Amino acid sequence: MEGRSLLCFAHRGARGHAPENTLSAMRTALELGAPWVEIDVFLVDDELVVFHDERLERTTNGNGLLQKKSFAELRQLDAGNGEQIPTLDEVCACIDRRAGINIELKGGGCAEAVATALERWVAQGWNRDDFLVSSFDHRQLQQFHRLAPEVRIGALHCSLPIDDACFAEELDAYSVHPSIEFVDERFVADAHRRGLKVYVYTVNYYDDIARMVQLGVDGVFSDYPERILSKR
Ligand code: G3P
Ligand code: MG
Repeated sequence: MEGRSLLCFAHRGARGHAPENTLSAMRTALELGAPWVEIDVFLVDDELVVFHDERLERTTNGNGLLQKKSFAELRQLDAGNGEQIPTLDEVCACIDRRAGINIELKGGGCAEAVATALERWVAQGWNRDDFLVSSFDHRQLQQFHRLAPEVRIGALHCSLPIDDACFAEELDAYSVHPSIEFVDERFVADAHRRGLKVYVYTVNYYDDIARMVQLGVDGVFSDYPERILSKR
């Protein structure tokens, strides 16, 4: 177990320490030394907003469905500690190439907007490898991959498929992102045989971190990135 390190993704920023998916969560992730942050995006009024839930209640002072609101209405809300819901552009500016960004496509219809936004950031000096785009919505992930074939994609899933990581290879993914609830030795071995990295979500407890090292996974998403980084 010793000597093998896990790539660390600060989940929704460092959400164990700051309101999730806010700029302060991104800054905290950087302060903790996370090499990657993971964020969730929806498209609203042609703007990519960084937000996890379909509904507003859990993480803001608003209510109802995010996608029923205008961008202007969303920007009035408090996403925690008085912060606004950020845009993808604001997160990229905040990170400023000090960490990679895993962008998880949440709402429908955001593949094209994300592909366009990333090209803009690449034109401003980012590398395509500074980004990893993932989704549970494999149709949208495939659409993104066709639009931006040089940006790496990761296939999220929350099950133990009968043919293991085959679906991710078929998508031409760089990585497969299983839930900690379902990942096992056979799945990891199969993914590695297919040349896929295995990044597991969400890994917060020390005994789970040790189990992931034992399983030989390549990286984990954690609300507490310092717990992963201290294991190096
Ligand atoms: O991308 C890893 C993880 O964020 C996937 O699940 O629900 O936290 O977006 P969720
Ligand atoms: Mg996510």
